[in-house]
Amino acid sequence: MERTAIYPGSFDPVTNGHLDIIERGLTLFDKIIVTILENPTKKSLFTINERISLLEESLKDIGNIEIASYGGLLVDYAVKRDAQAILRGMRAVSDFEYEFQMALMNRKLNREVQTVFLMTGLRWIFTSSSIIKEAVQFGGDIESMVPAVVYEELKKKYKLS
Ligand code: PNS
Repeated sequence: MERTAIYPGSFDPVTNGHLDIIERGLTLFDKIIVTILENPTKKSLFTINERISLLEESLKDIGNIEIASYGGLLVDYAVKRDAQAILRGMRAVSDFEYEFQMALMNRKLNREVQTVFLMTGLRWIFTSSSIIKEAVQFGGDIESMVPAVVYEELKKKYKLS
């Protein structure tokens, strides 16, 4: 049986930390569906189509990946795609409470879908899309933390080049 995981997130934008989790996830799953979903607590910088393009470009050399977006509940999308698991990255202890709450809510909504956490590589432990956006808009050097295409698009968004 093919093992499929949904890797959900806002991906606003994708970072090297996300790519690290995807690469680790591919050692466990045959296929990963990287899925952009709405996080109602966040206001996005990039449109869904822009985020899809950035993911496509950033993941073009990685196989067994599909990029998708969905406008509803994560667990419903997992069922729709016959995925056995939801894959999430864990950075520091500070991620734990939110991830724990989300995983338990998803389990309550559907007991068949398991959440699998992978620890991010140490070099990405402090990165997040939000903190990267904050740093870059004030001229911070974040080039090594995101794929090249994302770096270029961030500079354009904040009119830095
Ligand atoms: O990258 P993020 O913002 O931490 O990802 C959060 C996301 C998009 C995975 C989460 O908000 C989500 O699953 N949204 C879809 C709606 C849903 O299913 N919510 C119930 C889970 S608590």
